[in-house]
Amino acid sequence: MARPPDVRRFADLDALSQAAADELAAIAHAAVAERGICTIALSGGSTPRRLFQVLIQRGAGALPWRDIDLWWGDERTVPPDHADSNYRMAREALIEPAAAFGLGASQVHRIAGEIDPAAAAAACERALVAALGAPPVFDVVLLGMGPDGHTASLFPGSPALGQAEEQPARWVVANPVTSPLVHGATTRITLTAPAINAGRHVRFLVAGADKAAALAHVLGGPREPTRYPAQLIAPSPGDLAWYVDAAAAASLGATVPPGDRP
Ligand code: 6PG
Repeated sequence: MARPPDVRRFADLDALSQAAADELAAIAHAAVAERGICTIALSGGSTPRRLFQVLIQRGAGALPWRDIDLWWGDERTVPPDHADSNYRMAREALIEPAAAFGLGASQVHRIAGEIDPAAAAAACERALVAALGAPPVFDVVLLGMGPDGHTASLFPGSPALGQAEEQPARWVVANPVTSPLVHGATTRITLTAPAINAGRHVRFLVAGADKAAALAHVLGGPREPTRYPAQLIAPSPGDLAWYVDAAAAASLGATVPPGDRP
């Protein structure tokens, strides 16, 4: 009998972000104590902005800032100063303010969305393997989920979903995406599911009523990872938890009992 998912429900995005910041601090301090570094893959989109703001508000003690390395779970094929850039959002909300706490440029490993996508994916993969091995083992992988059940840039029906079976294994790929969520067709650069699943602590942050139907299907519906790629995320031996707000959890009902954590 599979264990029920570890779903942690919060009233709203702020409460969710406060709790996620608490756990991130605990994981980061333990990782640094054990290995001298904490490696974090940041999620894109808008949800993590509040978490980034909470971490900055908490100041120098929020994280072992000098001993964390920041990577990304995915990036859009745009320059780093583009409004759609995942790096840009993190730079504004987290990286630049955290410089005051000792976070240095050498600790930040952005995906080069401005160059050829295949070259950007290969460059990121080389850097990642050099730093974290193959598969790359992040201490923390932060993920969001779209209203269609995508995560990172693993979109329904996209070629990157097949990486779980292909050899040689890939950890970062350029993924052609066609979706109304990306206004038609584009190419994204993304961690593959095997790279995410190698993580020690994988955490979804999901907020908003527009995620409720997909979340109910991902967590309580039949296994259809091609339609709901977030179902590909099953870290082992690492652990997985879902931070969800009440709006996103509205359709979970009894199919997914509240998590075994406060
Ligand atoms: C991206 C993300 C993507 C995101 C979800 C949720 O680059 O867009 O990595 O997977 O996490 O689409 O996005 P929101 O947080 O904006 O709802």
